[in-house]
Amino acid sequence: MSESAAIEDAPGQSAPPRWELYKLLGEPERLRLLALASSEELTVGELADLLGESQPNVSRRVKALKQAGLLSVRKQGTRALVALAAGHADDAVVHDALRAGTRLCVVDGSLGRIAEIVAARDDHAREFFAQAVETNTPDLPPELPAYLSAMAPLIPRRRVAVDAGTGDGSLLDVLAPVFEQVVAVDRSEARVAQARARLARRGYRNVELISAPYDAAEVAQRVASLGGADVVFAARVLHHAPRPQEAVRHLASLLAPGGALVVLDYLAHEDEALREQQADLWLGFSAEELRKLAARASLVDAAVHRIPQVRCGNGPDAHLDWQVLVARRP
Ligand SMILES: C[S@@+](CC[C@H](N)C(=O)[O-])C[C@H]1O[C@@H](n2cnc3c(N)ncnc32)[C@H](O)[C@@H]1O
Repeated sequence: MSESAAIEDAPGQSAPPRWELYKLLGEPERLRLLALASSEELTVGELADLLGESQPNVSRRVKALKQAGLLSVRKQGTRALVALAAGHADDAVVHDALRAGTRLCVVDGSLGRIAEIVAARDDHAREFFAQAVETNTPDLPPELPAYLSAMAPLIPRRRVAVDAGTGDGSLLDVLAPVFEQVVAVDRSEARVAQARARLARRGYRNVELISAPYDAAEVAQRVASLGGADVVFAARVLHHAPRPQEAVRHLASLLAPGGALVVLDYLAHEDEALREQQADLWLGFSAEELRKLAARASLVDAAVHRIPQVRCGNGPDAHLDWQVLVARRP
């Protein structure tokens, strides 16, 4: 059974009375679960790993705590993401339970392992993109760079662009003719090699490639030395980020004041096959989620719009709805 199906409430089920809370919190396993979920939104599988228990056991406990209103569960395809439910700030009983659970998790080491478990979320993507691939991409109209160069003066801020997670550098075909300087970053050597070959083929001399994670210090230093970015692009990258909020904060930090973050990604979908086909971690985002990510990174004027499907290529993700978030650093 999938993680999310194991937790679904029976129809018509209502919250148990308050006294049941005391019974529910009398078990150390539930306290540990509560403490872990309050520290980070985690999948049932991750919780099972941290707690050293089977997924069905964890699902049962999550279900009980959810019914008591203590946990919230967010569905992502067959996965279920578990977090502490909002609204317990003033509840002394829940506070005490969290304190006790946290102590247990410090002693058994599970709390300290959360960062490692979250970081492992994109192991699959690292392996996937580390493989060298044969590309058979149809070429662009040879005059396209000239058309883009002609349009460039219409873009008021086009000193520096960052392409975070450039992959084989497709977006560089658009950015290089428009921006004076482009910093393209990817943590996969294999993809950087492909992007480098593209740059050589096109003769673009204003693009600098950095082989590193986009949150590496060397990226921040290089972009800062250029006075910050006018635009940071993250095209089809956010759905690989173990912590999307942290990723958006990092990307936003590369912007010069007044610069814009552009996140191109999928609308929330249910196509689990993409986890295998292209190592996707998250099954897209709702427009609301993207706006929240921007707001929490202190970006303003966030706008999300859909991209017509005919413009979304012919890859394994062409059938999905694509959208773009644009938000500005004040
Ligand atoms: C789906 S590809 C998208 C490539 C390109 N942006 C596009 O739209 O065609 C995702 C790329 O992001 C890179 N990537 C994922 N997480 C990254 C990170 N934290 N730092 C740098 N690159 C990352 C992967 O190595 C991969 O090349």
